[in-house]
Amino acid sequence: EKTHYHDFVIQAEPVKRLCNIHNTITVNGQFPGPTLEVNNGDTLVVNVVNRAQYNVTIHWHGVRQIRTGWADGPEFITQCPIRPGKSYTYRFTIQGQEGTLWWHAHSSWLRATVYGALIIHPKAGESYPFPNPKRETPVLLGEWWNANPIDVVRQATRTGAAPNVSDAYTMNGQPGDLYKCSSQDTTIIHVDSGETNLLRVINAGLNQQLFFTVANHKLTVIGADTNYVKPFTTSVLMVGPGQTTDVLIKADQPPARYYMAARAYASAQGAPFDNTTTTAILEYKSSCSSNCANTNPVFPSLPAYNDTATATAFTTKFRSPRKAQVPTEIDENLFVTVGLGLENCPSGASSSSCQGPNGTRFAASMNNVSFVLPSNFSLLQAHHQGIRGVFSTDFPANPPLKFNYTGNVTRSLWQPIRGTRLYKLTYGARVQVVLQGTGIFTAENHPIHLHGYDFYIIAEGFGNFNQKTDTAKFNLVDPPLRNTASVPVNGWTVIRFVADNPGVWLMHCHLDVHITWGLAMAFLVENGVSELESLEAPPEDFPVC
Ligand code: C2O
Repeated sequence: EKTHYHDFVIQAEPVKRLCNIHNTITVNGQFPGPTLEVNNGDTLVVNVVNRAQYNVTIHWHGVRQIRTGWADGPEFITQCPIRPGKSYTYRFTIQGQEGTLWWHAHSSWLRATVYGALIIHPKAGESYPFPNPKRETPVLLGEWWNANPIDVVRQATRTGAAPNVSDAYTMNGQPGDLYKCSSQDTTIIHVDSGETNLLRVINAGLNQQLFFTVANHKLTVIGADTNYVKPFTTSVLMVGPGQTTDVLIKADQPPARYYMAARAYASAQGAPFDNTTTTAILEYKSSCSSNCANTNPVFPSLPAYNDTATATAFTTKFRSPRKAQVPTEIDENLFVTVGLGLENCPSGASSSSCQGPNGTRFAASMNNVSFVLPSNFSLLQAHHQGIRGVFSTDFPANPPLKFNYTGNVTRSLWQPIRGTRLYKLTYGARVQVVLQGTGIFTAENHPIHLHGYDFYIIAEGFGNFNQKTDTAKFNLVDPPLRNTASVPVNGWTVIRFVADNPGVWLMHCHLDVHITWGLAMAFLVENGVSELESLEAPPEDFPVC
């Protein structure tokens, strides 16, 4: 078991994409940022130095952070931001996780450019539960704005309107040659005929779920979010922001060049989205000798942007490889609505701040509470030190009203209340959460991410969750373990986990525009009795506000 030391210098660097050079916030001048590779059981020590003009934090997406919530990273949840000119060292150990994760900024929309892969290999001497791949390649899907992403979100917050959609999708930071000025900006992945390779697909996009495919090749899914799955074969993946999917791909086609392509799965009806396609090229080494660039790659067929049938056929295929440790009894049963809403323009507010539909401004909520970040303390510090007045623990276990969640409802139900409300769990509680999508303003698929935990997805379906009939669909045998669940458009997902990691853990939609609008809540998990069931003390350089 090793300790890996890294320095992350957050700094602006000129980056050229789509014909323009933009000053871009990067890590060590790299976009995307460095790939970190470790073994299960290793410790990471990452010293983050902020030389940018923005506050920043780094989140290690999917790392359990058992007892080390101080290193989790979401701004104002587990730490105050690292101010310009300051630094903070994240220190944590990978415990029992193997596969693909990633890291990203967790402050405003900085993660648009501040992200990278975190690859966790099995412990030394242990092997994969599949034949060793010849090569392993991270495929980071991203979204690129010509404008500064921080300006894009600031403009949306100021006006109450929806933010501009991205100008391109990217693979490993490159848009690919279907975009203007991008013929040189295409990722090329070389393969030898006959070999089997591992692609570690990560959706680092800000606001868009993506379909991903490789022309003429089958993909065998073997893991997701650092959990192995019963292998299954597919021609297309649907990956939500935050999710990772590991696939084996065999180079069993005639030697040639094949496009890998990704584009939107955009489930919200009528809402604008970036309808472009990013590509990379899978190039057989023997396919061309000198003039490869002149050989047109084979183009794949991709599902239509609104193909919910394909998206859910994919997400429902996941199974644990063996009998899962899913809790069969539960101590806490939450029913949480997940969706957009619109806020009435407050009296006295200027109309320039209410440029949402019909003079409203956008909001989003869970159980009608639109989450507000504190500003003077992080929630974790306030909890640990018993500082009052920073949050309350009255997040409702049920929606305040029953209504037809996926139908058309009256305007009065559109108005969420704001608050910093947590839900308290005793250590070891067995928790079930029914995540119910709503159609209040527009129905949409939501990738819901829980910090500090993996959870079992025991069922999903369309329409309103029915307590009597849908419980019969629960899979308590081999449900998949994930850290980010795709809650289907106009539907629901049921998750279970055991609250065995003390701290304050954010649960939110991983579409950043939705978290900007308040689609979040947090669990406060109390310490258990022994020290090994308790949160560690904060590190000395822990940033306070
Ligand atoms: Cu990947 Cu709260 O984030």
